[in-house]
Amino acid sequence: TNLVFGDGNPNAKVMLVGEAPGADEDRLGKPFVGLSGQLLDKMFSFIGLERSKNIYISNVIPWRPPGNRTPTPQETAQCLPFIQRHIELINPELLIMVGGTSIKALTSSNDGIVRLRGKWKPYQTEGMSSPIKSTAIFHPAYLLRSPGQKRETWADLLNIKHTLAEMGHA
Ligand code: URA
Repeated sequence: TNLVFGDGNPNAKVMLVGEAPGADEDRLGKPFVGLSGQLLDKMFSFIGLERSKNIYISNVIPWRPPGNRTPTPQETAQCLPFIQRHIELINPELLIMVGGTSIKALTSSNDGIVRLRGKWKPYQTEGMSSPIKSTAIFHPAYLLRSPGQKRETWADLLNIKHTLAEMGHA
């Protein structure tokens, strides 16, 4: 029904990119406002990052796929230039891919979330003059289904906090 473009501070140094809006996001036209969004907000507030202040959030796909199905590879390919340009315009110093689908769409890596979470890789699009740091975290919807993985995510969040401090954004 609605385009879900982005939310948060467009001048933020940290940008999060999820997969696609769900029903709540579609209704409100904002990313990550449903149950998994509430968990995402809570997780990032623990390390001092809030969309009202210092993070910006968007998704690879700006519309809710019918029935919440996974976006098709063709849909993802069609939307990719738009999220890449979106990242270029926000111009963050740190990109956080939220969930495996976001990694798959934004990077050409064959490695999934289990291998890439907690690691830092350079991220660059054709329109960026230099690469930025990027990492990945488990999707909060997955954490709601598998709370046992919250321990790993807590470590990933502390790693992000530490990296931001090293970059002078404590
Ligand atoms: N899941 C996502 O990946 N993005 C949203 O905006 C909401 C749920």
